[in-house]
Amino acid sequence: MCGIIGYISGKSQKENIEVLIEGLKALEYRGYDSAGLVSISNENLIYKKSLGQVKNLEADVNKILNSSPVFGEGDYSIGIAHTRWATHGVPSELNSHPHTDCNENIFVIHNGIIENYKELKNILEKGGHIFKSQTDTEVIPHLLEKFLKENNNNSNKFDLSFLETLKIIKGAFAIAVIFKELPEMIYVAKLSSPLVIGIGENENYIASDPSALIGNTKKVIYLKDGEYAKVSKNNVNIFNFQSQSVEGEIKKEITELEWDIERAQKGDYPDFMMKEICEASEVLKKALMGRIKIDQNNPGNSFIKLGGLESIEEELKSAKRIIILGCGTSYYAGMVAEYLFKKVSKIPTEVFLASEFRYREEVFVPDTIVIAISQSGETADTIAAIKKCHDNNLTVIGIVNVVGSTISRITDSGVYNHAGPEIGVASTKAFISQLSVLALVSLYIAQIKNKSFDKNLISELNNLGDKMDAILKEENISKIKSFAEKYSNKKDFLYLGRNFNYPVALEGALKLKEISYIHAEGYAGGEMKHGPLAMIDENFPTFAIATRNKKDNVIQDKLFSNLEEIKARKGEILCIATEGDENINHITNDLIYIPETLEELEPLLVIIPMQLFAYYVGKAKNLDVDKPRNLAKSVTVE
Ligand code: F6R
Repeated sequence: MCGIIGYISGKSQKENIEVLIEGLKALEYRGYDSAGLVSISNENLIYKKSLGQVKNLEADVNKILNSSPVFGEGDYSIGIAHTRWATHGVPSELNSHPHTDCNENIFVIHNGIIENYKELKNILEKGGHIFKSQTDTEVIPHLLEKFLKENNNNSNKFDLSFLETLKIIKGAFAIAVIFKELPEMIYVAKLSSPLVIGIGENENYIASDPSALIGNTKKVIYLKDGEYAKVSKNNVNIFNFQSQSVEGEIKKEITELEWDIERAQKGDYPDFMMKEICEASEVLKKALMGRIKIDQNNPGNSFIKLGGLESIEEELKSAKRIIILGCGTSYYAGMVAEYLFKKVSKIPTEVFLASEFRYREEVFVPDTIVIAISQSGETADTIAAIKKCHDNNLTVIGIVNVVGSTISRITDSGVYNHAGPEIGVASTKAFISQLSVLALVSLYIAQIKNKSFDKNLISELNNLGDKMDAILKEENISKIKSFAEKYSNKKDFLYLGRNFNYPVALEGALKLKEISYIHAEGYAGGEMKHGPLAMIDENFPTFAIATRNKKDNVIQDKLFSNLEEIKARKGEILCIATEGDENINHITNDLIYIPETLEELEPLLVIIPMQLFAYYVGKAKNLDVDKPRNLAKSVTVE
């Protein structure tokens, strides 16, 4: 939540601001209530905050640039910028960042929550500090102002004041600070909120997320919790602010980002959401690349190779239980994995919402392996749940998309998704990627534990991309679009699925809620008669997953009975069914066919029409599908 970008170079102020605005646009998925920036170049200071999306800030700043002299290359130009997702205080210009001290000499942007801000604000107000906003962040510039005054005679006053402030604030933060008096330096610090430093030549960057740096630099340094840095045009100096002893500078490794600019741009697509849905087969390919070894002559000898899990192979071999953790879409991917792990790997598995798991009493048993799933790798609840597992000596595997993110670094081993940046706030391609990786993990565990499983799963997984592309053919997309338009005026929707497709019904309902603001509930088909059936009438349609496969059609028969019950109550039905299945025609009002696959892998196909449906309902309602209201991509606060 909230996006942070900073840039320091010897370039002009206009270029400095361009980098900040482009960075904010890339980060807008983290928050888009309001945005602001400060940029200083050869004593010319531009400070602007605007309500709404980054384009409003861009327009406002362009007006300033056009009406003021633009400075050419100088010794430096420095700036920090922020896009906000409101936690404390309504979205407004006053509450947006950067925040300042009383005299606008210190500029601060912040992602996270300062938990003790009320008591700090009280003390500061008693000391004469005047606050302009309702935010928790504003205590930071005022604390810096106070400590600067107290350290005024010390040659090291900026470092000292920054350190004293860091030691007094409690909570979660990634912060960046510019002192007007010291305009060749950005001070940054991190505790429980992500922060990355981008390394350039004669220029450096800071950001809350590496996606803001794509196209500028691929070299990054990830700050750890408790670290702060002084970033100038040519140097980055990193220290620890938590250790009791005064430690020297910390030497950090530079990581190379693997994402390229094309993957973070919309290209010819109207929105990121559409682009990301259409990347399904590519995402599957990237997840499987180098991990499936097919023996063409004898498919029975095909096997899975997961380099990231080799270091814990012995632990996995002796594992007796698996715990899966995640939030939102990642949790639903975990629910599908529970079915997979039980059926394919034959290991007891439980899946938990990370936000519940972190606070509930849990019975930890030896030989348990934890799998934490997170696209961003920064979700606060998932991080806290992982810490709880570590406190109980459990080994944690991460399934993470963002390379170098917090979860990828705190887990004991892991498998990256390699899905590329997901910019649309609602998760689409990440879900496909998570399901692909989890299918691999289930096969890998079965393989190392010598459990018998259907070897066709490996080859079918490998071939699923063509089936995904078939679903995404133009004629199918237009059909789904027309259904979406037909149902877009509904106020409620029920999503039904059973077995492997039950979590997919939950995920389908979540997509509709997020993108179209229509109330949607996901249910297991068998639960209909235990309550939800009471809601059904001609205004309450149902989206049902009624696929069939060769192995077992009991589930489909049961679901048909559930649908008959809905039809008898005049409920409209939209179904996803398996190509060639005509039994469904008499029950459903509208029908979307998908190619047949093994039931274990059906979620990977079924979710695509559901994502498209939510997308087109959102479009029919003229909504911003990439940036649903009230949401942010990385949920780095509780
Ligand atoms: C839904 C969505 C969220 C995320 C959830 C977890 O479309 O995007 O529900 O899935 O916030 O995020 P990650 O996977 O980054 O931990």
